[in-house]
Amino acid sequence: MLRKNAHSPFFFALQRASSGRQDLVDFCIPCNPYFPTPGMFSQLAGSLEHILKYYPSDADTITAELCSTLGHNPQTVVMGNGSTELITWIDHLLVRESLATPIPTFGRWTDQPMETGKRVDMFQLHELRGFEFNVDEFVHFIRARGSRVAVVCNPNNPDGGYVPRREIVRLLDCLIDLDLVVVDESFLDFVDAEPQTSVADEARIRPNVIVLKSLGKNFGLHGIRFGYMVANPALAQTVRAALPKWNLNSFAEVVVFLLREHGAEYRESLRLLSRDRMLMAQQLASLPGLKVFPSQGNFIMVKLPDGRDGVSVRDHLISHHGVFVRECGNKLGSTSQFLRLVVRPQADVQRLLIGLGSYLYGPAAEAPPDNVVTPGHGWGEPAGHEADAAGRFTDPLRPEPLHAESRTEDFRAAI
Ligand SMILES: Cc1ncc(COP(=O)(O)O)c(C=O)c1O
Repeated sequence: MLRKNAHSPFFFALQRASSGRQDLVDFCIPCNPYFPTPGMFSQLAGSLEHILKYYPSDADTITAELCSTLGHNPQTVVMGNGSTELITWIDHLLVRESLATPIPTFGRWTDQPMETGKRVDMFQLHELRGFEFNVDEFVHFIRARGSRVAVVCNPNNPDGGYVPRREIVRLLDCLIDLDLVVVDESFLDFVDAEPQTSVADEARIRPNVIVLKSLGKNFGLHGIRFGYMVANPALAQTVRAALPKWNLNSFAEVVVFLLREHGAEYRESLRLLSRDRMLMAQQLASLPGLKVFPSQGNFIMVKLPDGRDGVSVRDHLISHHGVFVRECGNKLGSTSQFLRLVVRPQADVQRLLIGLGSYLYGPAAEAPPDNVVTPGHGWGEPAGHEADAAGRFTDPLRPEPLHAESRTEDFRAAI
């Protein structure tokens, strides 16, 4: 199962194959571990019968609610059954002959247009430059190839590289003559490098720009399948008109209507995640021979020491430590020497570090490196408490209590 697909194996399939073991730790699928809160999950569980029995409202109603929470104009927004549904329609409707994108990147941006016979111009990002994206070089590449559509993920998947907003705006200015420029901001909420990050406001008023956003990653709900795009009203209508009626399900509706009440918890989840990312990056960097790439996403890409192969690391981690990681050998522009590791709470990271240590440095290295807090549990026991930067333990599912006033803050500040 681990070897036969271009896509990573699905969590449910792995769980079925692990004969009922419930404690697999998933470092593969980049999902916010702090949101929804346990209270929100209880609310959803309480609504399960209605969710499953009744038709959802139409997409316009759900989209209007999302827009009023996020501060978008509904005429400029289209919601999809996962952002992948929108990627599919963007390709069918708006990509006519060719599409340029940096690689490595999210696979659907290369595979979808290839499946429909378009030319994909792949702009290789270089490891020696930390996979950094350079606007001028990308524009030069597009001119040389004559590409008609450009796609950039910001932050990029799998390296987590972030391009400052002013540089993305400059890219949009340079490519004003293209049929389409897509900025995929699916991981943008995790960025803490600068306060204003999104170019959705630019997409609304430009003739050829779409901002795309998955909602599975930041809201920690991949199973729901929801995402949206922002574009000028005419472009948005072109995609909206192609979508099937009732493309959004009742889970999506209930969650979208819950969000307005939970802006403070969401902001807190992002704060915890950026703290965890910093700790995890430091801990990974302390493993001798492992190269860690700076990330603004909710995952961190690492390069294994020369001569080490990600496939065998992944297999070792899953079979001996119950830890599932993404090796990037099947991503165009990458090799299996690279792993993408999702940012998770410290209790889980310790299990990962112990597993990586035992594989890379032999059984003597089963003991975690000095800066790793010894877990109070082992493989086979459920994850428990986590240590903060000062070594204090807190419950990962119950961050510091939120003050009642902070709940009423504008949700938009969080995204
Ligand atoms: C950059 C990027 N965009 C879009 C998606 C698709 O997300 P979904 O279809 O779950 O909304 C992914 C999934 O990993 C991604 O990495």
